[in-house]
Amino acid sequence: MTARVRKAVFPAAGLGTRFLPATKAQPKEMLPVVDKPLIQYGVEEAMHSGIQNIIIVTGRGKSSIEDHFDVSFELEQLLESKHKTDMVSMVRNISDMIDISYVRQKEALGLGHAVLRAKELVGSEPFGVVLSDDIIASETPCIRQLLDVYEYYGAPVLALMEVPKDQISAYGVVDAEPVMDNGRQNRLFRIRNMVEKPKAADAPSNLAIIGRYILTPEIFQCIETIEPGSGGEIQLTDALKYMLRSRPIYGLKFEGTRYDAGDKLGFLKATVEFALNRHDLGAQFREYLKNLCIR
Ligand code: UTP
Repeated sequence: MTARVRKAVFPAAGLGTRFLPATKAQPKEMLPVVDKPLIQYGVEEAMHSGIQNIIIVTGRGKSSIEDHFDVSFELEQLLESKHKTDMVSMVRNISDMIDISYVRQKEALGLGHAVLRAKELVGSEPFGVVLSDDIIASETPCIRQLLDVYEYYGAPVLALMEVPKDQISAYGVVDAEPVMDNGRQNRLFRIRNMVEKPKAADAPSNLAIIGRYILTPEIFQCIETIEPGSGGEIQLTDALKYMLRSRPIYGLKFEGTRYDAGDKLGFLKATVEFALNRHDLGAQFREYLKNLCIR
């Protein structure tokens, strides 16, 4: 029987250079889409997928992430004194949401390195990895979709998405063969190879790895073994490629819409679409957009 996945690691120690100057003195993960920080979308997705413990990998200048998920006595007291009970419970829900621990990555040496920092807290269990700048809107939470595959195969599973050729070199890209189900191809792939940020001409497919993973603890030894790769960073994709030598890895073309909120255009798209879907804002915002003279 496969071990239950209880923990998810949230690497949040990157420098967020694509979002400068906003990220000069504040973490990218705390940028709000409408009114909620990016990382809270990811934490809620993990929670709704059945994850019980979150491990956030932070770095210098990231203390507002810890404050966000901590109790804010002064704020709660102030809101209570003004009888804003809905707001008190909304604020309290954030700190009560789920068990969160923190570990530091002192230098941003890459995503693989950030995941390795969680080794002691993860222990010898399978675990999820969530990159919170990828916001995924879906009926079934994306992590839950990956967990369903993990629970069947007991092997690592990566979230995959088709990406246009002119954008493919920004991603880890897989060479993968479809897993047939009763003679039909479903959304599942068995991965043959993968490469981090290939040139468009060298990309093995149009299937890119998106920021959700279910991993097994053997990944830590793989990360420890590999050398720095693309951009001089310890890349998680390189560690996964190393892992492929000894065990199968699956990829799932998840159902849902992904927004790259770590990128300015992706962030704007997420903001507009999430605002349009809000009960309290959507109608007015739609009217406003209709009246904009966009050429
Ligand atoms: P990104 O590739 O988005 O890098 O990292 P970044 O540094 O955050 O942002 P840009 O590209 O400079 O704008 C993907 C995820 O991995 C984390 C980031 O915080 C983000 O969640 N990460 C990356 C780390 O935790 N440590 C690292 O050394 C690198």
